[in-house]
Amino acid sequence: MNKTKIILAIETSCDETAAAIISSDQKNNEMSVLSNIVSSQIKLHQKYGGVYPELASREHNKNIIPVLSQALSEAKLDLANIDYFAITTGPGLIGSLLVGTQTVKTLAYILNKPVIPVHHVEGHIYANLLNNKDIKFPLVALVVSGGHTSLIYMPSHLKYEVIGQTIDDAAGEAYDKVSSMLKLQYPGGPLIDKLANNYLNKSAENKENLKKLFPRPLLKEKNYNFSFSGLKTAVLYYLKNQNINQKTQEEVSFAFQEAVTDTLVKKTLKACKDYNAKTLLISGGVAANQTLRDKFTKSTNDSTIKLFLPEKYLCTDNALMIAIAASQKLLENQVGKWYDINTNANQKL
Ligand code: KG4
Ligand code: ZN
Repeated sequence: MNKTKIILAIETSCDETAAAIISSDQKNNEMSVLSNIVSSQIKLHQKYGGVYPELASREHNKNIIPVLSQALSEAKLDLANIDYFAITTGPGLIGSLLVGTQTVKTLAYILNKPVIPVHHVEGHIYANLLNNKDIKFPLVALVVSGGHTSLIYMPSHLKYEVIGQTIDDAAGEAYDKVSSMLKLQYPGGPLIDKLANNYLNKSAENKENLKKLFPRPLLKEKNYNFSFSGLKTAVLYYLKNQNINQKTQEEVSFAFQEAVTDTLVKKTLKACKDYNAKTLLISGGVAANQTLRDKFTKSTNDSTIKLFLPEKYLCTDNALMIAIAASQKLLENQVGKWYDINTNANQKL
């Protein structure tokens, strides 16, 4: 039997319409990427300062077939060549999710092909496994995005225990809110990242004081939860007495980013130690942050724990990560039919 399977994955949980195709060699547990298309709606949502859900689902509706057909043509395949469909079933914006799930349901029904449902966070975690087979368990995964800040313990593949999460805002959400306080555009993460680096590349005077300007919430607590709402309020109060000019934008970006990244790194490393993790997987949009990447790299350099960071293009939402997770699910026979797809905006891991 031919063990190489073609998987077409679709992801529409937020504001990216994405489709990817991989060829998965199940015998050798290897994969190759045939196409990876992401159509971002960022420009459209910028004037609202965040994702406008109704508009997002309408855009998915408009883009889904062109994105799907581009993924097929770049892979030089047509629908008849697809062995499995994979789809993000949740969590996310319900209207957005439904566009993807309904598309896949229809295709799977008409073509009589199996479907692999994938949790969005599971996709982020598995973005680390493109070309990496030698992941050692147990592991700890940190998922940091606009919708999630979660620490997850994994004793083996596809087994998850959420050991910590944010009790209020997600890290990316805090980035986006602080950026709007600084009169910057949505999404704020990449802009704050850049401004903080501008500060460091210039004189960086007052650096030590700025590092201490904002609190590191919940750092002293014994649990692995995060909280970013107090930090956001601290930035708001600080800005009340400031003019917002380029200097303030750069300094506040640096100070805020120091507080967020310190908290994420320290809590995650504590979880790794307490759970005897052999591997640490970082993922989600905020994992594209260079300071966060540098701090994790530096702090795991001399330890036995092996750090994985997906390439930056795989940190923000995409369908390739869904295809990679689906390939693992296929190995473990976690496959269903079109009627097994349950779209759930609040799906638990
Ligand atoms: O994973 P993602 O695309 O969507 C969700 O699942 O939420 O993450 C988007 C989030 C946004 O909040 C964005 O500001 C943040 O990731 N982000 C960053 C960077 N790039 C994207 N945050 C910090 N630094 C970055 N370089
Ligand atoms: Zn995401």
